[in-house]
Amino acid sequence: MIIGSIKEDLASEKRISLTPETAKNIIGLGLKICIQKNYANHLGIDDKEYQDIGVEIKPSSNEVFNLSNLLIKVNCPSENEIKDLKENTILVGMLNPSKNKNLIEKINSKKIKIFSLELLPRITRAQSMDVLSSQSNLAGYRAVVDCVSEFEKAVPMMMTAAGTVPAAKVLVIGAGVAGLQAIATAKRLGAIVSATDVRAASKEQVESLGGKFLTVEQSEDMETSGGYAKEASEDYKKKQAEMMKEALKKNDIVICTALIPGKPAPRILTEDLVKLMKPGSIVYDLAAEQGGNSAFSEAGKINSINGVKVIGVKNLMNTLPLTASSLYAKNLFSFIRNLYSKEKKDFNINLEDEIIEKSLIKKV
Ligand code: NAI
Repeated sequence: MIIGSIKEDLASEKRISLTPETAKNIIGLGLKICIQKNYANHLGIDDKEYQDIGVEIKPSSNEVFNLSNLLIKVNCPSENEIKDLKENTILVGMLNPSKNKNLIEKINSKKIKIFSLELLPRITRAQSMDVLSSQSNLAGYRAVVDCVSEFEKAVPMMMTAAGTVPAAKVLVIGAGVAGLQAIATAKRLGAIVSATDVRAASKEQVESLGGKFLTVEQSEDMETSGGYAKEASEDYKKKQAEMMKEALKKNDIVICTALIPGKPAPRILTEDLVKLMKPGSIVYDLAAEQGGNSAFSEAGKINSINGVKVIGVKNLMNTLPLTASSLYAKNLFSFIRNLYSKEKKDFNINLEDEIIEKSLIKKV
C-alpha cells in the first residue's frame, strides 16, 4: 500500500502533510510513500531528506496520484487536481466540507473515500489525531505574538530608574483551545490577563493559568452535553455586552476566539463596543474568516477605528508553517496507524470504529 502526497497551492498554503519524521514512522508501519518533487523546499526541507528515509520522489502530481492508494493533503484538492484523482483512492485531509461542498461532491463521484479530520470525534482515543486542537493551540500562541508586535507599548510591568511601566492588560474572549493558549502566552509575557466564556467550566481553566475570569452575572451555562458552546440567548448577549463595556475601557489588547461549532462566528464586539476602547489598543479577531467576533474585522486586514487597530486574521498557520506542519503530520500519522491493518496489509474502513465512522464523509 502506498501513501502519496503532493505540493499544496503555495499561494495560500505553506503547510505540508508529511514531514521526514512522520514519513519514517509511516514506513515503519510497513507502508510505502511517494511525494511530488520539491515537496517541502519552501520550508527548507530538501527532497533528499525524504529519499534518505526511503520515500520515492515523483516529478509530477499526476504520477503521485497514479501510484497512491491513500493521499494525504492539507486542503481540499482543487478542480484541476480532482480531474486527475484516481478512482478508489482514499483521501485524508482538512477538507472543510461545509465550505467545499461542490468539490467534495466531485471527489465523491469518483468513488474516492474521503476522511476529513475536522470531523473527528473529540474522544480520548482521537486526541493524538485532533487537528482542530493542534492548529488552534498554535493560533492562540500566534495571536498574542502578533498583538504584541502591533502594540506600540511594552507588555510587562517594568520598574526602571526612569519610572515604572505598567503591564498591558489583555482580555481573551472565548476560553477554548486557542483562548487558553492565548491566556498562557500573554501571562508568560507579563500581561495582566482576563478572559470570559459562555461555558461555566472554563472559569477553573482560566484561573489555573493565572487569568481572571469575567462572569456574565445571572446567566445560564451555555455548555452542551458534548462540551461545546451553544448559541447565546438574547438575554445573555445583553448582559455580556454590559459586562464588556467596562472591560473594554480597561484593556489594551482583546483577543477574540469565540466559536460555536457549525454556526457563523458569534458577534460579540459591536461597533459601539469597539468605539469604547482606548486609542492605541488592539482587537485581534481569530474568527475573521468565519464572519468575525468583532465589528470592523476583515480577514487579512488591519482596520483602524478611532485609533483602535482591528486585526482580522487570515491564513494564520502560514506564519508558523513548520510547527503547524509538524503537528498536523503527527495527527495524520496517528489517523493512518488506526486505519491501517498490518495483518491484512490494507486500510481497514471499519465503520464500527467511531473515529473512522465520524471522519468519513458520507454525503455532502
Ligand atoms: P474552541 O471551540 O476550542 O473554543 C471556542 C470557545 O468560544 C469555546 O470555549 C466557547 O465556549 C466559546 N464561546 C462561544 N460563544 C461564545 C460567546 N458568545 N462568548 C464567549 N465565549 C464564547 O475553538 P478554537 O479551536 O479555540 O478556535 C477559536 C477560533 O480560532 C475559531 O474561530 C477558529 O476558527 C479560529 N482559528 C483560526 C485559525 C486560523 O488559522 N485562522 C486556526 C485555528 C483556529
